[in-house]
Amino acid sequence: MIKKQLEEVKEKALEALSHADILDSLEQVRVRFLGKKGEVTAILSQMGKLSPEERPVIGQKANEVRGLIEKKIAERKEELSKAAAEQKLKSEKLDITLPGKRSRIGKKHPVSVVLDEIKDAFVSMGYSIADGPEVEYDYYNFEALNIPKSHPARDTQDTFYFSPEMLLRTQTSSVQIRTMEKRKPPIKILAPGRVYRIDEIDATHSPVFHQIEGLVVDKGITMAHLKGALDSMAKKLFGENVTTRIRPDYFPFTEPSAEISVSCFMCGGEGCPFCKNEGWVEIGGAGMVNPKVLEGCGIDSSEYTGFAFGMGLERLVMRRYRITDIRMLFENDVRFLNNF
Ligand code: DAH
Repeated sequence: MIKKQLEEVKEKALEALSHADILDSLEQVRVRFLGKKGEVTAILSQMGKLSPEERPVIGQKANEVRGLIEKKIAERKEELSKAAAEQKLKSEKLDITLPGKRSRIGKKHPVSVVLDEIKDAFVSMGYSIADGPEVEYDYYNFEALNIPKSHPARDTQDTFYFSPEMLLRTQTSSVQIRTMEKRKPPIKILAPGRVYRIDEIDATHSPVFHQIEGLVVDKGITMAHLKGALDSMAKKLFGENVTTRIRPDYFPFTEPSAEISVSCFMCGGEGCPFCKNEGWVEIGGAGMVNPKVLEGCGIDSSEYTGFAFGMGLERLVMRRYRITDIRMLFENDVRFLNNF
């Protein structure tokens, strides 16, 4: 009787195993037949009712059945894990012969390259970098720089106004005022940034461009310090043989004022088509900070003096790389930018 039951359970178990096609259902089969409340276990619990002669025979049979089911489960388990692993490999297959995707790595824009060099040159002389807003008050852009509303100097900088008191800054000189309002001497800053003017776009004009402003205020500052700072920068930027020249000029916020030029780095100053035979290339304006400007910012002009300068960054970049059209610096054509 029990023997027959065992035979039946064996068949059922083998049948169930043949249907188990994932590892989970294999576990269900194990529990169903061999678990504590499993079918084989249930049969074995009836062993007590058997006669002493029958017991060993049936016992052996029961062990055989259990062993067989265990073995089959183990085999099936192995098969299923293998199949699962193969499936996984297949789905994750890499075709290493496919062409790769080249990631395009960007690089610094030529304007940034030159700006970073200029910053390095001045930071190594102890300057810190200062910043100011591009949307500016008339006060910082003009008034406080000794350029009142009626001043003719305003005509040289056609301005984008938002209102009579707000504008897009036309010069980074506004940062001089913002700095001197906040900090007292010694002051030694470099303020690069974008400026805006209503200019017709052509090969040398753009309504947006960059300037680099410098300001040093301390006791005993003279024009010699200005000349030294400019020379040092020019040598770092253009080479050891390059020098700077300052000539009289006029700016309302400096007194005296100067025009800054560097000796032509193409011909060394002898004269060539690049410098239009002048031997010098103009790069910006400078001067001793007008005492009126210092006083307006609450700095005692009998105790402190200072120099300031402002340079056009695009011009420096164009000279450096012999670019003849400023528009190329703003169009962002990668065929052009890849050359740097
Ligand atoms: N801000 C002037 C301009 O845009 C340039 C300039 C001249 C800046 C003399 C200065 C300076 O700091 O001292 O034309």
